[in-house]
Amino acid sequence: MKRAAALAMLLLASACGGGDAERERRIAAAGSDPRLADWLRVGDAAQGERLFHRCASCHAARAGAPDRNGPNLYGVVGKPLGRVSPSFSYSYALRTASGRWTVDRLDRWLAGPQAVVPGTSMPDPGLHDPLDRADVVAFLCGLDPGSGAAAGCPVRR
Ligand code: HEC
Repeated sequence: MKRAAALAMLLLASACGGGDAERERRIAAAGSDPRLADWLRVGDAAQGERLFHRCASCHAARAGAPDRNGPNLYGVVGKPLGRVSPSFSYSYALRTASGRWTVDRLDRWLAGPQAVVPGTSMPDPGLHDPLDRADVVAFLCGLDPGSGAAAGCPVRR
């Protein structure tokens, strides 16, 4: 019984940071027919950090951290595709892809990696909600604030 109560408290606590009401507020603030820029305006890096647990089995996101099943993503925003971690063995598809990781490309990648780089070995991370993707992109933008502005990261004042 004590354990059940502790579990209930834990669930309650985890629901608070970005709970339903806050989420509804952010969706409303994005406006009607929101585009990526609108989602990014209401994106929340702290919420994105929580969502990043879906990525963390494969990706570290800290300077100098080792690669896992996927490359370390520190400083990803603004970097050329397939070049974020020099030590990682990328698939041929990603290694030979052109372009840089803009927020727009990251958003599309998180919605479905194969649509951005056909043949990539990264599985679909299941982020089908645009607000979830904006949160994760906000988190990735915040990892290395120096590089993101040119790639479309929202400027926080
Ligand atoms: C099951 C493992 C796995 C999960 C989960 C995963 N990824 Fe990946 N990711 C990979 C692999 C493997 C690659 C390299 C793909 C290739 O070489 O084609 C990759 C590549 C990437 C790249 C490109 C890096 C570069 O250097 O160009 C980004 C950005 C990325 N992942 C973001 C994410 C984010 C954000 C999430 C969570 C929402 C996520 N990934 C979840 C395995 C994963």
